[in-house]
Amino acid sequence: MPNADGFARVVGPCDDTMEVWLKTNNDTVKKATFLTDGCGPSIASGSMVTEMASGKSILEAYKISGNDVMEALGGLPEESEHCALLAADTLKAAIKDYMALKREPWKKAYRDVYHRE
Ligand code: FES
Repeated sequence: MPNADGFARVVGPCDDTMEVWLKTNNDTVKKATFLTDGCGPSIASGSMVTEMASGKSILEAYKISGNDVMEALGGLPEESEHCALLAADTLKAAIKDYMALKREPWKKAYRDVYHRE
């Protein structure tokens, strides 16, 4: 996502990586996108968490938990529950990044180009 307002990359306990980009407007998530090199459930979880966050206020989006993602997906096998948690944790980290950039907006200009796409 070009010129994202928030970005995070989180590596899960399984060593898979999830990335989330946020575009916001007036503290509302306008659009959220993700990328993962993980398993099928992590792709489903990333898709679900970004869908769930879109249109929500930053605070509401921050409250989305791994359980919420799992519930929205209709459940996941026990061995894949951490995939939903990885997606929710990455969203939270991207929101924290958004909050940090809001406090210090000049930092956005110095970001690695990769983080903005
Ligand atoms: Fe790593 Fe699913 S096994 S995210």
